[in-house]
Amino acid sequence: MGFYREHILPRLVDRACGIASMDGWRAGVTAGLQGRVVEIGFGSGLNVAHYPATVDVVLAVEPAAVARRLAARRVASSLVPVEHIGLDGQAIPLEDGSCDAALSTFTLCTVPEARLALAELRRVVRPGGHLQFLEHGLAPDPKVVAWQRRLEPLQRRLAGGCHLTRDIPAIITDAGFVLDHVEQRYAKGPRPWSWFTTGIAVNPG
Ligand SMILES: C[S@@+](CC[C@H](N)C(=O)[O-])C[C@H]1O[C@@H](n2cnc3c(N)ncnc32)[C@H](O)[C@@H]1O
Repeated sequence: MGFYREHILPRLVDRACGIASMDGWRAGVTAGLQGRVVEIGFGSGLNVAHYPATVDVVLAVEPAAVARRLAARRVASSLVPVEHIGLDGQAIPLEDGSCDAALSTFTLCTVPEARLALAELRRVVRPGGHLQFLEHGLAPDPKVVAWQRRLEPLQRRLAGGCHLTRDIPAIITDAGFVLDHVEQRYAKGPRPWSWFTTGIAVNPG
């Protein structure tokens, strides 16, 4: 799986996650970001075009070298500076409370231990700072959930460890964030992959 995971998958993700119907979702999740923002699972930089001018810098955490290369053109033309600062959202090389906000899009499904990544985000985001998120996850309909459970082993193999059944609001609140605003609905596409949760959670400190 090494060659597939390192070279093919980042290109597939760039295509699949870069479809035009995602633009509205990405514009929504990035709205209101400001100051120093840490983004885990930065990927190929598909959020870059949506960063608002109120962001001073984005500190990107991304393990896949090919994804970072695919991001280079987007980063070069970005009005907001982007610095690649780390490889693993579960161990972020930043000081406690050093960020105003965090951004995660379609990453809490893939990070091996989402619990650890969320603990790191709580550590590096200052008290009162925000986690802004857009994720796919556990659907509300039993029939869709049955398909998610059936497909998950294959999905994990083919999509770099991506889970279909993570309960996004639950894992965010279990980590100690307080949900401020959440929107959940099916996006365009096959239902096991398209139950989207987006919103803002506050770090209570
Ligand atoms: C489905 S892609 C989403 C990429 C991007 N956030 C987007 O919205 O297009 C998941 C990303 O998480 C990254 N990833 C996997 N494990 C990670 C980890 N431990 N820490 C941070 N990012 C990770 C993958 O390399 C990939 O770029």
